[in-house]
Amino acid sequence: MHVEEFIPNTSPKKIGSGSVGCISPSNIALVKYWGKKPHQIPANPSISFTLNNCNTKTILRYSPKSTEGFSFEVYLDGKKEEDFRPKIEQFFERIIVYAPFLNSFHFDIETTNTFPHSSGIASSASGMSALAMCIVALEQLVYEISNEVLMKRKASFLARLGSGSACRSIEGGLVVWGAHSAILGSSDLEGIAFPYEVHQVFKDYQDAILLVDKGEKQVSSSVGHNLMHNHPFATERFQQAHDHIDALIPILKSGDVNAFISIVEREALTLHAMMMCSDPYFILMKPNTLEIINAIWNFRTRTQIPVCFTLDAGANVHVLYPKQHASQVGQLIQAKLSHYCQNGQYILDHVGKGSEHIKI
Ligand code: DP6
Repeated sequence: MHVEEFIPNTSPKKIGSGSVGCISPSNIALVKYWGKKPHQIPANPSISFTLNNCNTKTILRYSPKSTEGFSFEVYLDGKKEEDFRPKIEQFFERIIVYAPFLNSFHFDIETTNTFPHSSGIASSASGMSALAMCIVALEQLVYEISNEVLMKRKASFLARLGSGSACRSIEGGLVVWGAHSAILGSSDLEGIAFPYEVHQVFKDYQDAILLVDKGEKQVSSSVGHNLMHNHPFATERFQQAHDHIDALIPILKSGDVNAFISIVEREALTLHAMMMCSDPYFILMKPNTLEIINAIWNFRTRTQIPVCFTLDAGANVHVLYPKQHASQVGQLIQAKLSHYCQNGQYILDHVGKGSEHIKI
């Protein structure tokens, strides 16, 4: 696979003003992306569940202009959001060679999230994938392209250049990003739908996101990724991610939830272990993160219900469980785990279908 296939090679058509829109979900990694090379190339492959309810809706309003260079305004919930500018500007700079038509328009980017902005949930995956989907929708108009498959792949390719994990939010279900020898078609450049058989239990897996800490993270993901350079355990960690994906392939097929749990929880703890022994070291978990983990382990031992946790680069806990146990796990969350959340807040989500264009 070559980047050249994503560079337009025909002349653009002149179009007037208009708008395109998209809804794109967040995703939760089972095997984590932590560490990267230049141009948003992951240091190891990762695999995630695409979510459903936590999503970003973006409308891209475009109007032709004659001056060269990027021109855009960005709005969150109807209000101008200057804080988003640097990240979007950097994104446009990175993708301009693949989307040169961006120079010919002024854009108003209007975005809303279904989850509270200050929830501490990473909005970069849903936000960047939604914007990338809008950009390819415009590209389809400008170059009169009807190849939907290629355009979805390009949306993932572009989203990656905005935020690595965003490339896993275009396709639904299980998505793999990063070249892995056992996964046909896997690539460092884009996320692909997991191409092998998946047991029914994993098709509608549930994810309750417990909002332990809604504050700004002390260490951003970008800084964390960089600390994997010269990390004393980097080589072993990257190899472990490959091994975990190897192990997951038959587990996802057989529906062995206990084997699934042992990989998913080890991944979450390894991610945070990497943070705790980088230079400088840091801790993103909070005391309540550990309270929740212990409560999940106690509940699992007591009831034999296969519920487990995973973590992002933050203090919030994702509680993962099969749909058939939704009511017992719901009770556990309501009665016990929600007390460890800020203002008792949590979000119930589940595996979803991926990004979709919307009519405006
Ligand atoms: C811990 O995708 O946010 O959530 O590429 O710098 O934007 P950038 O990083 P980002 O990193 C996500 C890291 C993670 C693990 C994962 O989602 O795989």
